[in-house]
Amino acid sequence: MKKIGVLTSGGDAPGMNAAVRAVARAGLSKGMEVIGIERGYVGLLDREFVELNARTVSGIIQRGGTFLYTARCPEFRDIEGVKKGKAVCEEIGLEGLVVIGGDGSFRGAGDLSSLGIPCIGIPGTIDNDIQCTEYTIGYDTAMNTAVDMIDKLRDTTQSHDRCSVVEVMGRRAGYIAVNVALAVGAEAAITLERPYDLNEIAARMKKTTSEKNGKHHFIIVVAEGVGHSDEIAKKIEELTGIESRATVLGHVQRGGAPTVHDRIVATEMGYRAVELLEQGIGNRIIGIKDGQVYDIDIQEGLAMKKKFLDRRYDILVDTAY
Ligand code: ADP
Ligand code: F6P
Repeated sequence: MKKIGVLTSGGDAPGMNAAVRAVARAGLSKGMEVIGIERGYVGLLDREFVELNARTVSGIIQRGGTFLYTARCPEFRDIEGVKKGKAVCEEIGLEGLVVIGGDGSFRGAGDLSSLGIPCIGIPGTIDNDIQCTEYTIGYDTAMNTAVDMIDKLRDTTQSHDRCSVVEVMGRRAGYIAVNVALAVGAEAAITLERPYDLNEIAARMKKTTSEKNGKHHFIIVVAEGVGHSDEIAKKIEELTGIESRATVLGHVQRGGAPTVHDRIVATEMGYRAVELLEQGIGNRIIGIKDGQVYDIDIQEGLAMKKKFLDRRYDILVDTAY
């Protein structure tokens, strides 16, 4: 291939810039022309292009967000939109496309591949909720950000003998919640993947507060998919008599400089994506399997089921309080 494109789509994630840089630098080193497409599929349909060269992607590896901007593009969910995307690729001579985003973005990439434009998906989302990969770019940074904030929250929670109910992101998935809960030494993680009982959590809290040398402050991490953190805090207060506050960490978890892990994974994935396109291979998702970079057919990858962090969840329950 002589000319490829790269775009970021869906929610942004720290490390997306590192992935774009790797795609651009790998493409350039293989003698390709690399085009950055702004605002995901919106920019493809609206022809928002920037030429990527070694200089335009320099100084971005350490930056959060995505310098290509990102967007959601309802038009691309429809086959007419995908056909329009194919026509634009042909018009400007794009022979392949790298799509950095989540599973929604990969469905679009699969559709475009089936129309003859080879696309490679790179998982970029803080949620780590993509079935066919152990890791998605941005997950580590987001968890570190959440942990930093909860450590701060613990100071005031402890000073006031309170319970903090902290809601972390993750859409419907509880991966961030369980790992963050373990890392901050929380009393409980409440996620959609495992049943929970507020009465049981409250009974454990009451037991330890009533003991000599017992605990008087608590952190409960709630996954976004469960939500209602305000109501959970009220219920906990009602059941335990311990003053409780809800804190929703929100979009701050999506920002900030990517960690070393995110920069390295993004770079390896970006490089692998270009290697595939160089061989004329499309319709693949890059992922991590047994700790190694691999690739898988888009439809096959999207149909997989992901394991939850059951062991970590059980460890959390057994080491809390
Ligand atoms: P993510 O990629 O993070 O999962 P979204 O689900 O919002 O985020 O998807 C991002 C974009 O991918 C959508 O705005 C749309 O352009 C495209 N997309 C999503 N779902 C599909 C689909 N089923 N078919 C084609 N394109 C899709
Ligand atoms: O997928 C990343 C994510 O931050 C989810 O954790 C969250 O549910 C969603 O995106 C929020 O999306 P928006 O930026 O549209 O509010």
